[in-house]
Amino acid sequence: MNKLKGAFAIAVICADYPDELIIARQQAPLAIGFGQGEFFCASDTTALVPHTRAVLTLENGELARLTPLGVEVFNLAGERLKKYPRTLSWNPVLVEKQGFKHFMLKEIYEQPGVVRTCLEAYLNSDWHPGDLSQMPMKLELPAELYADLEQIQIIACGTSWHAGLVGKYLLEQLAGIPTMVQYASEFRYAPSPLTPNTLTIGVTQSGETADTLAALAMEQQRRFSQLPKLQPRLLGITNRPESTLAQMVPNIIDTHAGVEIGVAATKTFVAQLMAFYCLALDLALRRQTVSPKGLELLITGLRQLPAQIELILESLDPYIQELTHQFAETQDFIFVGRGINFPIALEGALKLKEISYIHAEGYPAGELKHGPIALLDAKVPVLAIAMPGSVYEKVLSNAQEAKARDSRLIGVTPKNDLEAAQTFDHLLPVPAVEELLSPILTVIPLQLLAYHIAASRGLDVDQPRNLAKSVTVE
Ligand code: AGP
Repeated sequence: MNKLKGAFAIAVICADYPDELIIARQQAPLAIGFGQGEFFCASDTTALVPHTRAVLTLENGELARLTPLGVEVFNLAGERLKKYPRTLSWNPVLVEKQGFKHFMLKEIYEQPGVVRTCLEAYLNSDWHPGDLSQMPMKLELPAELYADLEQIQIIACGTSWHAGLVGKYLLEQLAGIPTMVQYASEFRYAPSPLTPNTLTIGVTQSGETADTLAALAMEQQRRFSQLPKLQPRLLGITNRPESTLAQMVPNIIDTHAGVEIGVAATKTFVAQLMAFYCLALDLALRRQTVSPKGLELLITGLRQLPAQIELILESLDPYIQELTHQFAETQDFIFVGRGINFPIALEGALKLKEISYIHAEGYPAGELKHGPIALLDAKVPVLAIAMPGSVYEKVLSNAQEAKARDSRLIGVTPKNDLEAAQTFDHLLPVPAVEELLSPILTVIPLQLLAYHIAASRGLDVDQPRNLAKSVTVE
């Protein structure tokens, strides 16, 4: 192994030693599962869940020998290491489709439960509005992470990057902290100049995305060497408390979404948003940038979200399934939103292109007329997210610009809204909630739309071509 170069997770068997399996890890995930009279190795713990919940994850530069007698772990110098498996909280039932046609649809339907679990995990159930004796949040992050915070940088890829954009909106608008969101693959080669009192947040549902891990490692190293007097402040938001990310950063927020099998992230995205709501509120409280009334409004609103998602699933799923027949020939789709719903437009477009292979773009609605409007005609539908709040009227008028170019207009709008009904050809109504909370609801119809378009085309929704659940290579 000392001679090998690059990133790998390997398993080797030799004809001379038929009872031994040697496995080794360098910069790529590798886990050992302890079953009943059997051992397993896998590059992802999800694969082990149907067989066992006792799992040991190897670290970089470690190898293990699996024989009928047991498992031994070594470092590169050949020294034996003492390591113990941990018990995953995941239930094997989670890796079954339970009557759903695809895992993605099942995972979309699991979202009310995921939001409930996040609320239980992050909110103090004993707290009530007006209660000054205790904090409403229970993130249990160390005070040093928050002290004199001047800036936050969020590093992520793909859907997690979109969650980071919603996070930026919340951290800036609720807690008043300037926040940057960086693509990990870009940040690695052009990091922003170092600033003190900065919190770096890595967001990755798998906790194994190579670019995100490398960017965080680089940032940690850069801060140690250039700002040696300041302890780097690192936080991970992940769905995998056993992942490499969790081993690498001192603090994590576990998003508690449970196993996600579909390659297209759905419930883990919503869970990442929940983590950002609670982090932003926690910071806002400590910095006193949110009024008691505002806090009460948001916490009450958060608690209503699970029932509201259930309502959306119940009322919109059959309608969207029906609607998708009208997009059988569609080759291009535009998604627009503004403010906190702009990242949701990006996410809607990503979901659609990932699983249906339809070309889709997300834009801030105000940017339509600065170029993309040239694409519009009767063959290019436009989906606009128009929720009550600071940008509602603006989005409606941007949607009308598209209508004037003959685009078919779909609106994710508040329920029973007359103005929306007059603007859009098709309505996907969701409960009218506080603008800041709306992304958790507006993303649901977009996930359903992507799902039903892909399913109606007979595509492999859970395993789209060219994609992997964890991108463990650069
Ligand atoms: C999401 O639907 C995608 N499959 C992809 O963009 C994903 O979000 C990205 O690869 C990042 O994954 P991570 O959250 O595990 O880091």
